[in-house]
Amino acid sequence: MAFVEILNVRKVFGTKENDIVALDEASLSFGEGEFVTLLGPSGCGKTTLLRIVSGLLRPSSGTIRVGGRDVTGPYSDYGFVFQQASLMPWRSARDNVLFPMEILGKKDAEALKRADELLELTGLSNFAKSRPHELSGGMQQRVSLCRALIHRPKLLLMDEPFGALDEFTRLEMNDLLLKVKEETKASVLFVTHSISEAIYLSDKVVVFSRRPARVHLEFDLSLPAPRNQATRFTPEFTEAERRASEALGILGAH
Ligand SMILES: Nc1ncnc2c1ncn2[C@@H]1O[C@H](COP(=O)(O)OP(=O)(O)O)[C@@H](O)[C@H]1O
Ligand SMILES: [Mg+2]
Repeated sequence: MAFVEILNVRKVFGTKENDIVALDEASLSFGEGEFVTLLGPSGCGKTTLLRIVSGLLRPSSGTIRVGGRDVTGPYSDYGFVFQQASLMPWRSARDNVLFPMEILGKKDAEALKRADELLELTGLSNFAKSRPHELSGGMQQRVSLCRALIHRPKLLLMDEPFGALDEFTRLEMNDLLLKVKEETKASVLFVTHSISEAIYLSDKVVVFSRRPARVHLEFDLSLPAPRNQATRFTPEFTEAERRASEALGILGAH
């Protein structure tokens, strides 16, 4: 059964004279525990779709269902990671991670334990007391990942979370994310404009057309397991890159 269902979602911004159709009948569904990546050119509507799935933005028409329930407004069973870590500078890493539990009124012993587990999982145990300015960009993003997972959401929404990081750090974060996904069993809806990142991380890649975004191509990955950096040099990986590049119009052929 599908865990996330996006059915004929359309989103129009602006007034009648000045319409921007950001999404046009976009449909997509995936199961629990799947890692799905939206890949598409800048401005094609990827962020808009994530915001709609999160319930923070209403579609003009169409339906979203998560875990069998219609999304009609904000809900709490998801975590969101943005391109910028957006941590509170005066709080320690640990207190940033715990922030959502304060908002939910659930900062109990179990939450403290979970915060420490997540910091450990992401290699930040020794930095629990550090303030954001004492951490590198990659470490700040790891804190923001822990913060998104602290309430054990079933769904993780990630909008170009590693886009501002250098290439080495991005590769490291990709491996860390695969590990974290294994531990949490969360479903992930991930947005990137990096073809190789999309393929490396995902069970399914969804290629969007230029705005107004429709699903242009959707394909499942069958890469040798376990995935590690050597996976990038396998024929399966190269073939998937070729398919995605074709769908994006980069190779010119279809
Ligand atoms: N709040 C808004 N008001 C008007 N137009 C918007 C708004 N949000 C996004 N858009 C427009 O919708 C289109 C898709 O934007 P977005 O979803 O941010 O694209 P992406 O994340 O794929 O780069 C863009 O043309 C953008 O300018
Ligand atoms: Mg975006």
